[in-house]
Amino acid sequence: MHTQWSAVDEYINSLFPSDSALDAVLHATRAAGMPQINVSPVQGRLLHVLALACNARKILEIGTLAGYSAIWMARALPADGKLITLEADPKHVDVARANIARAGLADRVEVRLGTALDILPKLAVEEAGPFDLVFIDADKENLTVYFDWSVRLARPGSLIIVDNVIRGGEVLNSSSSDAGLQGVRRFNEALAADPRVTATILQMVGSKGHDGMALAVVRGENRELRTENQELRTRN
Ligand code: SAH
Ligand code: DHB
Ligand code: MG
Repeated sequence: MHTQWSAVDEYINSLFPSDSALDAVLHATRAAGMPQINVSPVQGRLLHVLALACNARKILEIGTLAGYSAIWMARALPADGKLITLEADPKHVDVARANIARAGLADRVEVRLGTALDILPKLAVEEAGPFDLVFIDADKENLTVYFDWSVRLARPGSLIIVDNVIRGGEVLNSSSSDAGLQGVRRFNEALAADPRVTATILQMVGSKGHDGMALAVVRGENRELRTENQELRTRN
């Protein structure tokens, strides 16, 4: 199946004009010997479309790597928009900053060096938000904590996207000894029970195999009334 998933991803890509700036980022990721765990091109395009759909002016990313997903999202920003992306590895920060500058987005994208657990509270103190879109894609152990901060740094209507919530179906394995996998399982359960958001979880296949993303919209204010129960009641 995996070869067909990849072939279909390549087919989808081939329909769109080729993009040398983004290809250069992937090349730089390989050349620097960094892990090739960026979102796929088709997923990057999804992030771009979602950023446009929610009219994002301020975007937060947790987990930069070489800046591939950041560039896809930042390209959806207006000229005065801003994307802040958090990265713990100084080497990744250097490569990402160079890639972002080469893509012509240095004015809109700020790469912050540090662990997400350190920087997220600082963003709150600085009142850097509210972010219209958050993409969570760092270590999986702390997903629930990152999501909690993301909700606090967002506003009603903000979209929060979380990568890698299916892990080839390993997420079904409740007795997994992998800390990241257990982090994903805890997160998925917390998400479904979180009254602050309305969410869903998508499984995906493609060039990265079988994985998925969670999508959550922050409730509040006039959205507060639209609890799932009330939506059901109105329909019946
Ligand atoms: N979003 C990127 C891929 C990110 S890969 C893309 O799609 O292009 C995950 C990144 O998170 C790695 O670069 C890793 O160094 C970083 N990371 C891991 N733990 C972190 C933490 N605690 N705080 C910040 N970044 C972290
Ligand atoms: C891994 C991390 C990711 O964010 C991803 O999209 C794929 C794989 C990993 O750590 O293996
Ligand atoms: Mg990921």
